[in-house]
Amino acid sequence: MTSASLTPILKTSHLLGIEGLSVPEVTHLFDLGESYVAQSRAQDKKAALLKGRTLINLFYEASTRTQSSFELAGKRLGADVLNMAVKTSSVSKGETLIDTASTLNAMRPDILVVRHQDSGAAELLSRKLDCSVVNAGDGAHEHPTQALLDALTIRRRLGRIEGLTVAICGDILHSRVARSNIRLLAMMGARVRLIAPRTLLPAEADRFGVEIFTDMKQGLAGADIVMMLRLQLERMTGAFIPSTREYFRFYGLDREKLSFAKPGALVMHPGPMNRGVEIASDIADDPDISVIAEQVEMGVAIRMAVLDALARGLARNPTESRGHA
Ligand code: NCD
Repeated sequence: MTSASLTPILKTSHLLGIEGLSVPEVTHLFDLGESYVAQSRAQDKKAALLKGRTLINLFYEASTRTQSSFELAGKRLGADVLNMAVKTSSVSKGETLIDTASTLNAMRPDILVVRHQDSGAAELLSRKLDCSVVNAGDGAHEHPTQALLDALTIRRRLGRIEGLTVAICGDILHSRVARSNIRLLAMMGARVRLIAPRTLLPAEADRFGVEIFTDMKQGLAGADIVMMLRLQLERMTGAFIPSTREYFRFYGLDREKLSFAKPGALVMHPGPMNRGVEIASDIADDPDISVIAEQVEMGVAIRMAVLDALARGLARNPTESRGHA
């Protein structure tokens, strides 16, 4: 079976953010993701759905999970995958994002996965290039596949998202993961709470339509899911916290703070973790509590679903969606 013979899933030919997705589109991606969990657990993990297609990973920021899972997702669906080594590319000679992307575009990829330090970078490329663009994280703006994999993990573990209370804790200010999760979880009917010191809450947080807490005890009370975020020290120009020790004392997740949440609450973290800063090791490594490894597994599956969905769009209307003459 090729992607051309399958029903379309997404309205657009890009995945730039959770904003713009509908509940049926997301549900369809989850269902497709489930089938790719099964494929990834099988001995033969390879399908031919994207045979002949080219995927390029263009990452301007460090990544372990996101880049490798897009690579595996592409390969498991039969695509040719190119990982651009940005540090040793012409970017180090001062080439602009647009010039680098236009050069890659001329090699006729079908899908470009981009991570960049500036908000809006993926959207900009989607307007300039002929191929489908997937946002793998743009500044503090969005990281849609992370939110999709988080929500799929929750749905698999608890059977639903609607009606759950999810507490997102830590460095909200610098987090694209938080912004995409807030949008997606709210759209799927969860109650979202943010817990952070005032210095790590964005000024516009009260317009997110979520409950805001500066105290872990109050914010975690009754939560079904505790989602911890990394302190993004590389994005901090001034002093946002007194010290990492102090931060752990008030906001780091340990057994005592976790006891404020609902009994049996699940703990998530998008990785990479700062152990002993935002999360205690014994919680991160406890398989009865932590679903961190499952999040990584769902990352490959949901990215396979996203690539599949985008490829269906390309097959549906190759000239219109890609602009190729
Ligand atoms: C996140 C990111 O890059 O936004 N990581 C990830 O994709 N798993 C979160 C982070 O870097 O803290």
